[in-house]
Amino acid sequence: MITPFASVASWRDRRVCDVRHGITLGFVPTMGALHDGHLSLVERSRRENDRTLVSIFVNPTQFDDAADLEAYPRTLERDLSLLESAGVDYVLSPRAAEMYGDGFRYRISETELSTVLEGAYRPGHFDGVLTIVLKLLNIASAERAYFGEKDWQQLQLVRGMADAFFLSTAIVACPTVRETDGLALSSRNARLRGSERTNAAQLYRVLTSARTTDDAIDRLVEAGFTVDYVHDREGRRLAAVRLGGVRLIDNVPLRIAS
Ligand code: PAJ
Repeated sequence: MITPFASVASWRDRRVCDVRHGITLGFVPTMGALHDGHLSLVERSRRENDRTLVSIFVNPTQFDDAADLEAYPRTLERDLSLLESAGVDYVLSPRAAEMYGDGFRYRISETELSTVLEGAYRPGHFDGVLTIVLKLLNIASAERAYFGEKDWQQLQLVRGMADAFFLSTAIVACPTVRETDGLALSSRNARLRGSERTNAAQLYRVLTSARTTDDAIDRLVEAGFTVDYVHDREGRRLAAVRLGGVRLIDNVPLRIAS
């Protein structure tokens, strides 16, 4: 049976009790609207820990666009039943007023990686991400926390923060889960309409087959995408594009983009 926690204090009591009994914890932070990508993190956590905690919190400070925050899908009942079937032990869904009792006066900011790529297109986004992730890691007090490679830049920044602040939770990276045509699973995919959905699979195909970033950009534009960036960095090819009103990000290891 899944145990839901709506407040930080109630969760902390439970965690203190579990720690006393030597129970290890894996933590999967999410914003809900769960899909198989999220569930792959849950499966990994279940394999590696005695108990698994999933947090569901649509974090307002990481949205640079109020309309995007408004449009973000909220499907708590469905999420809870998915997590129940996936064998999750605990779910934390705190209120924004509790998470931001300080009114976001205190925040984490990184000064290099967070300013490029996604950071250049979404000012303040990574301050919001790092701030909420630090709060959640402190609250969860887990042995391990699981993040998807789908959000590569987020993963690197979270890892960097964990190192910089000597956090005791190990950050575990999990591979991107894709549809059979290659499209990376994302809660935003549901907003793609008809032919856009079919077309969206071109993103992965082009990223993995184009010889250069310029070649990738040309092919994506030809396929009807508006390209924010395609950039090779530290052995990965990272991209953000827009299709209709939907923004998609993805990344692949460069060795398959030969
Ligand atoms: P969210 O977009 O809900 O994603 C939660 C976790 O699931 C992230 O670590 C993300 O990288 C991972 N994920 C999403 N799609 C995936 C896929 N197709 N394959 C594998 N993993 C996938 O990322 C966030 O929430 C937030 O920024 C958060 C870290 C919770 C902070 O608010």
